[in-house]
Amino acid sequence: MTTTAQPILQLPSDLKSYSWPPFSPLPADTLLATRQLCRVIGNNDANRNLVLKGIDLDIRRGEFVSIVGASGSGKSSLLYLLGGLDRVRSPLDGHGEVYINSQPVSRMSDTTLTAVRNRTIGFVFQFHFLLPEFTAIENVTMPMMKLGTRTRREQTAHAGELLELVGLGDKRHRRTTDLSGGEQQRVAIARALANDPEVLLADEPTGNLDKHNSQNVAKIFEQIAAQGKRTILMVTHDPHMAEHAYRVVTLDDGQIAGDVVKGGIKV
Ligand SMILES: Nc1ncnc2c1ncn2[C@@H]1O[C@H](COP(=O)(O)OP(=O)(O)O)[C@@H](O)[C@H]1O
Ligand SMILES: [Mg+2]
Repeated sequence: MTTTAQPILQLPSDLKSYSWPPFSPLPADTLLATRQLCRVIGNNDANRNLVLKGIDLDIRRGEFVSIVGASGSGKSSLLYLLGGLDRVRSPLDGHGEVYINSQPVSRMSDTTLTAVRNRTIGFVFQFHFLLPEFTAIENVTMPMMKLGTRTRREQTAHAGELLELVGLGDKRHRRTTDLSGGEQQRVAIARALANDPEVLLADEPTGNLDKHNSQNVAKIFEQIAAQGKRTILMVTHDPHMAEHAYRVVTLDDGQIAGDVVKGGIKV
């Protein structure tokens, strides 16, 4: 369990009236962090809902963390805020701060946040969102073409290596529509790694896969984690998937209800 006392917040209006303490300091090796993070969803007073209630979380470089919790507990909301796909824009949207590489997101312009996100984070979703008209290697090459930091030859070589990593080296020229669901998700993982992100964020990456294919994805994540170069943060409601991580954070109704590192409790 976390030792930080969490304020009991009920309504968006509480966010302003609550007397918040100063943010606790960030550890030096923090890659992603939140302080007092609150998120309000809903656009009118009748259905406004506080889905994150003061989250303090530190994800350190090289960690492999899973986030678990019941449906509706706020896992996706937290992941999207941590990854800069969503942000708190006003006190009506929430409260608190997200840090990417110790930089506060609230001080970034949208353009800067997009640049930081493209450079730092790779995303994997429940649905693969591959471009169906293109081959596996073309899909993996695409983010590199957008960023433009590699030559065409380097892009192709790197995409090939990534497809080897996910066990699809021999299917690189298949159209994604000619791949199985499990293979498509592995292409999506290779694509997420294309621009060498420091951190891989995954939201229910095995939500659409059977047990065998889920195991494949778990093994790939373990392999990436073991290389020690990347941080992985994976939302899952599958306890077998969560077990592969070295640390499991449990969300309950928008609050951290547990934070366990293999072999002990994180405090
Ligand atoms: N776009 C949205 N509009 C309305 N409610 C939302 C929206 N996104 C999330 N919610 C609500 O916020 C809460 C947390 O959702 P979410 O972060 O998706 O949880 P989880 O990923 O753990 O299932 C849920 O009650 C959900 O219904
Ligand atoms: Mg979700």
